[in-house]
Amino acid sequence: MRFTVAIDGPAAAGKGTIGRAVAARFGFAHLDTGLLYRAVGARVLRGERAADAALSLTPNDLADPDALRTPEAAQAASKVAVIPEVRDALLDFQRAFAHRIGGAVLDGRDIGTVICPGAEVKLFVTASAEVRARRRLDELLLRGLDVEYQSVLEDVRARDTRDAERATAPMIAATDALTLDTSEMSAEAAIAAAIAAVAAKHSA
Ligand code: DC
Repeated sequence: MRFTVAIDGPAAAGKGTIGRAVAARFGFAHLDTGLLYRAVGARVLRGERAADAALSLTPNDLADPDALRTPEAAQAASKVAVIPEVRDALLDFQRAFAHRIGGAVLDGRDIGTVICPGAEVKLFVTASAEVRARRRLDELLLRGLDVEYQSVLEDVRARDTRDAERATAPMIAATDALTLDTSEMSAEAAIAAAIAAVAAKHSA
């Protein structure tokens, strides 16, 4: 059985939380596609060319996800994500994952529009920049990183603009996506809404 759930939206809107919960509920595999761009960005920070890094990415580059979940890797990811050769190099892997037998949930920016326009369920998860910055700040502080609200908010806004305004595969809701604004929703309520949307198309 092939069944794809595409979850797009800006940074720290809750895509990962929702994606993991939907995957667990339906027994689907989950891919956080942002990690691919973060891994490329991290290699660029170490001096490599972005396109070369994207073409030679290996599972080893993703072995320590927490090391990629830093503000520096996030900004670097957003910058390499503008480059069409980088996006192209990551396309086949993401499509193959989306079509795997047993079902898949992918979260990112262009899943419902470019990677998987035929996805059975498309969600666009969003929230105000302030709410997202607060959530990301809490997450980073919990992990012991030394960050401040204002700089996290500026990071979120800079990425929003770059991700939405780039020419190739910009962040945008697919016309057939269900938008979930989680600004005033608990994680539980957002997960329940996403699960209801998937359950309406999938009987398991
Ligand atoms: O989801 P994230 O915050 O980890 O993503 C990091 C950056 O990677 C994001 O700012 C833009 C880029 N990205 C992308 O362009 N397309 C995707 N499908 C996923 C992420």
